[in-house]
Amino acid sequence: MLQEKYYPNKEFAKQARIKNMCEYNELMEWAKEDYEGFWDHWAREKIDWIEPYEKVLDESDAPFYKWFVGGKLNVTQQCIDRHIEVRKNKAAIIFEGDRGDRQIITYLRLYREVNRMANLLRNEFGVKKGDRVVLYMPMIPEAAYAMLACARIGAIHSVVFGGFSAEALRDRIQDAEAKVIITADGAYRKGAPYMLKPVVDQALEEGCPSVEKVLVVQRNNEDIIWIGGRDYSYNEMIESQPDTCEPEVMDSEDPLFLLYTSGSTGKPKGVQHSQAGYILWAQMTMEWVFDVKENDTYWCTADIGWITGHTYIVYGPLAAGATTVMFEGVPTYPDAGRAWKMVEELRINQFYTAPTAIRVLHKLGEHEPEKYDLSSLKVLGTVGEPIDPPAWKWYYEVVGGGKCAIVDTWWQTETGGHMISPLPGATPVKPACATFPLPGIMAEVLERDGTPVAPGEQGLLCITRPWPSMIRTIWGDPERFKKSYFGDVVKEGQPVYFSGDGAVVDEEGYITITGRVDDVINVSGHRMGTAEIESAIKKHPHVAEVAVVGRPDPIKGESIFAYIVLKDDIPDNLGEEVELTKEINEVIAREIGNIAKADAIVVVPGLPKTRSGKVMRRILRAIAKGEEIKQDISTLEDPSIVAKIQEAVRCAGC
Ligand code: WT7
Repeated sequence: MLQEKYYPNKEFAKQARIKNMCEYNELMEWAKEDYEGFWDHWAREKIDWIEPYEKVLDESDAPFYKWFVGGKLNVTQQCIDRHIEVRKNKAAIIFEGDRGDRQIITYLRLYREVNRMANLLRNEFGVKKGDRVVLYMPMIPEAAYAMLACARIGAIHSVVFGGFSAEALRDRIQDAEAKVIITADGAYRKGAPYMLKPVVDQALEEGCPSVEKVLVVQRNNEDIIWIGGRDYSYNEMIESQPDTCEPEVMDSEDPLFLLYTSGSTGKPKGVQHSQAGYILWAQMTMEWVFDVKENDTYWCTADIGWITGHTYIVYGPLAAGATTVMFEGVPTYPDAGRAWKMVEELRINQFYTAPTAIRVLHKLGEHEPEKYDLSSLKVLGTVGEPIDPPAWKWYYEVVGGGKCAIVDTWWQTETGGHMISPLPGATPVKPACATFPLPGIMAEVLERDGTPVAPGEQGLLCITRPWPSMIRTIWGDPERFKKSYFGDVVKEGQPVYFSGDGAVVDEEGYITITGRVDDVINVSGHRMGTAEIESAIKKHPHVAEVAVVGRPDPIKGESIFAYIVLKDDIPDNLGEEVELTKEINEVIAREIGNIAKADAIVVVPGLPKTRSGKVMRRILRAIAKGEEIKQDISTLEDPSIVAKIQEAVRCAGC
C-alpha cells in the first residue's frame, strides 16, 4: 500500500527557490553528471572569496577529502561583513530571555560585538590562529559572538553543551588542549537563575594545564568565585575594545570548529569541520530547505551546544543574511503556550525543533496552538530523531494549520548540514519520512558489500560521494576517523561514508530513517554512546558488569535502560536497590551530566553472553521492550540467564 502524500502549498511553491520536482531532478542530474562542476558553480556564486580556489575537490588522500583547495576566506565576512552594505540595520539576532526580556541585534551591532570580542581574545588573551577555545555557554547572544569572534581570528572553537558535567567538560578541554574558556556566571531557566561558572571551576581543578584564561560573561550576576590572573569579566573588558578587527585570512580547509559527539566506543569524538565547505552548505541548505526570505524571521529551538545550534542558529542563518531567533528558556515555561506566543509575537516564518519537543508540546497542550495567531508560519522543521506519524500529523494540522510544509531533516554532527530532507516548495511528503537526498548529496541505502537494498528492506544509510560540509577528521585521531566512518561499507572497491543509521527506501525512492544500528542511542534527540554510559556506571564501587541499551519511549524517542551485575561480595536485596539506583544515577550525572541518567536500572544475576564472551545486546533490548525472545539462545554460554533476567526486570517493575 502506498502511503498518503501531502503536496506543497501552491502559493508557497510559486515563490520558493526550488519550485517543483522537475527543478529538483534537474539539479540532481546536474550533480550526478558533473559533480565538481555543480559544486564549483555554487561555491563561486555563494561565497565571498578573499582569494579564489584552484581545485574544487581533491580526492587523492581519501577519505581525507579536500574541498575548494587553495581558496582563502573568512567565515565572518560571509556571515556579517558582506551584509553590512545591504542590510546593516536588519535584525541579525532576536534574543528572547527566559523571563521575556528581548534584545534585537542588528547586523551592524553584531559586527561591532564580534569584532570587540575578537580583539579581546586576540590582543588581551593572545589567542592566535589555530588555538582552541572552549565555550561553555548558555543560550545568550554572547555565545554567538564568541563563536564568531573565534572564527574572525582563526581560532578553533569547541562548544560544550551546558548540560555536561565538570568531568565531561574537563575531558573535552583536555582532548582539545584549549587555551581559553569562555563561559557565563550562569543564566535563567524556568524563571530561576542556574549556574555554569562553578562547573568550569571544578573542571579546571585538575589536569588542564593548557588553559590560560577564563572569560566570564555576567548574565545573571549571581555570586561566583573569581581566580586572579585566570578569570576575567567580559562585561568589564569589552567596552574598551575597538570595534573593528582585521579578519584572519583562512584557508578553505583550516578547521573552523570542533564539536564532540558520542560514538559506539567510550571516548567522545572531536568532529572537525572546515571553513569553506561548511559555510557553503550551511548557507545553501538554509536557502533550499527553509527557503528563508529577506523579510522572514526564523527560529530554531536547539541549543548552541549541538550541531543544530551551530549550523542552524548561528552560521547558516547569518551566512544567508536572515534574522535568527535565539531563546534562552524552554518552550514549556511559563506554560505550554510559550513557544506559540513567541511565534505570534515575533511573527515567526520558519520554526525548527525536535520531535521530542513536538511530543511534549502536543501532550501538554493539544489545542494550545489554536489560541494563538500562527498564520505567519510557512515552514516547520524537525530534526534529531525519527518522528512518529501522530506527532507529525499534529505538527502539520494543528501547528501548521494544514498549510505549512514540514521538513523532516536527516543529518548528523558529522555531515555539518542537512543531507536528506523534503524541499518545502517541491517535495510531496509522506508523514514521518525524510524523503529524498538534497541536490548534490549522494545518499544511498546499501548492504555491507555496497549493493543497494531492495525496496522495503532495511539497509545501511551511506553517503557515497564526499560533500563539502563533511567531517574532515576526528581531532587528534585520524585513524579513528577512518575506522568509524569508512570501515564498514565498501562500494565498488571504495570505502564509503556510513552514517551508523539504518534506513528503508520504498518503491518510489522515499527514504525513511529507522534509527541507529550501532551502539548509539538517541534520547530526546541527544546522541549518547552506550559504552560511554557504561564506563560511567562502572565507576560505582559495587558494579561488576553493566550493559546499557535503549528502550523506545513515547516522549523521548528512546530512554536509557541499564542492566547491572553486582560484585560477588555485594548482597542484592531489593531494599538497597532503590538506593543503588539513585547512586548510579548520581555517578552518571557526575561523569557525563543529567541528560545521560538512566530511566531503568535493574540488578541481574548475569549478562547474556556468547561463549566467546560477547554480550548479546539484542536480547537485552528485547527484554527491555518486554518482547518475547524469538532468537536462538542456545548459543549462549548460559541460556538459562535469559529467564532470570526477565524475572529480575519483572520484579523491578521496569
Ligand atoms: C543522529 C545524529 C542532526 C542534528 C541533530 C542530531 C538521528 C537526526 C533525524 C531525522 C531520524 C534522525 C540519526 C543521526 N537523526 N535527524 N530527521 N530522522 N533520525 O545530531 O547528535 O549528530 O545525531 O540523529 O540517528 O545519526 P547528532
